[in-house]
Amino acid sequence: MSPSIRVRTPSELRAARRRKAHSCWGHLVAAPLWPLHGANLGTLLRTCDAVGACLAVPRFPWVPEALRRGNTLRRPACVHWVHDPPGWLAREKAAGTAIVGVELADEAVRLADLTPARGRTIAVLGHEQQGIPPDALDLLDTVVEIPMVGTGASLNVAVAGSLVLYKLAGLL
Ligand SMILES: C[S@@+](CC[C@H](N)C(=O)[O-])C[C@H]1O[C@@H](n2cnc3c(N)ncnc32)[C@H](O)[C@@H]1O
Repeated sequence: MSPSIRVRTPSELRAARRRKAHSCWGHLVAAPLWPLHGANLGTLLRTCDAVGACLAVPRFPWVPEALRRGNTLRRPACVHWVHDPPGWLAREKAAGTAIVGVELADEAVRLADLTPARGRTIAVLGHEQQGIPPDALDLLDTVVEIPMVGTGASLNVAVAGSLVLYKLAGLL
């Protein structure tokens, strides 16, 4: 006999969620610092809200509007504006923040072996075509790769970032 499955209603789901977005906890930060497509920023913003992370993005002229359009939440997640990505990463690293690159790289650990973040951690995501630039690669403490068995060269950056954020948040 198959189990009886009851899907939770929207009002039950709302009642189980926070009433307001978290204020800046600063513990976990998703950093798509070289974005190309606004839709990916909207997807990452929703994941940030789900896992209690902040989003760090450059203030390119089109980014505020992309976040406004992509924000389908009642209240937005925490957004930090980054003016100089390599300089910001270097300052964070010097202050003790763990810098985790999400990238396809020889030195990468597999997602399954990534442990949840213990202190302030930034998950650095690459450009949709060129990946993480070389000057930022030099600043990474760890690189994590999501294994793939299909024919595509890589995952969508928002999918890759969301998987890693869930693991860093300890929710997977
Ligand atoms: C579309 S990929 C970059 C393109 C890639 N250099 C290529 O040649 O296909 C964009 C970003 O998504 C993330 N990404 C995509 N697939 C990934 C995977 N399997 N493991 C880790 N990161 C991944 C990385 O941050 C990467 O820089």
